[in-house]
Amino acid sequence: MNKKILKLIKKKNKQKIVSLTAYSKNIATILDSYCDLILVGDSLGSVLYNYKSTREVSLNSMIEHSKSVRMGVKKSLMVVDMPHNTYRNSKEALKNAKQIMLKTKCDAVKLEGGKKIYQIIKTLTKNKIPVMGHLGLLPQSDKNFKYKGKKKIERDIIINDAKLLEKSGVFSVVLECVETSLAKDVTQNLAIPTIGIGASKYCDGQILVFDDLIGLNPMNYKFVKKFANIRKEISKAVLNYSKEVKKQKFPNKKNSY
Ligand code: KIV
Repeated sequence: MNKKILKLIKKKNKQKIVSLTAYSKNIATILDSYCDLILVGDSLGSVLYNYKSTREVSLNSMIEHSKSVRMGVKKSLMVVDMPHNTYRNSKEALKNAKQIMLKTKCDAVKLEGGKKIYQIIKTLTKNKIPVMGHLGLLPQSDKNFKYKGKKKIERDIIINDAKLLEKSGVFSVVLECVETSLAKDVTQNLAIPTIGIGASKYCDGQILVFDDLIGLNPMNYKFVKKFANIRKEISKAVLNYSKEVKKQKFPNKKNSY
């Protein structure tokens, strides 16, 4: 097994796992020093391209962004999301996962879903493609973006799906927008680590969309804490640049050849 994946699994019950999304090289270079796992998430569809849903993200777009991220990631485990409609059956999934692994040199791919994609994930893991699972809110297929686990039926499905994913050979599972006690139950019932986003402190690790963490995204979500106000910093810098250009203070002698 990939050494980075082994290291990640060994963190369960010992040390919390730190993960973030990245879509490009410069950001990935900074995150790499602090993260165990960097995900090239298909959230790039809404964050960068203003798509209404991640369903619009193409395989090519994921590959190009991942190639950029790869240049910045040395130490962390790099995972790439398989976009919507690229894993509708085992054959399609294997072909596309192989392409992602080959072209981006990532360590693993991530797929959304449980029982429905059990055989598909098994095909990938049998073919030595490391897979990360994703349960709870599934942006590629859910119509309503609501947190999961309020109803017993929902809880039972997610617990069952999590066990199936573990059986299919995934090395970790993302739990997105999952009620606290359910996230705790799933985490305690699995030998592999759970990574939460809006899924409480009881997961084995956390992930956030980087633009949310730094406050670049003006939206406020309950599950996000803005650790910086980067919009303010960028505004300040651009305002100062604009003033200096207008007053002919920039470029000065030092900036000229
Ligand atoms: O696409 C993404 O960024 C994700 C995270 C929210 C886990 O899947």
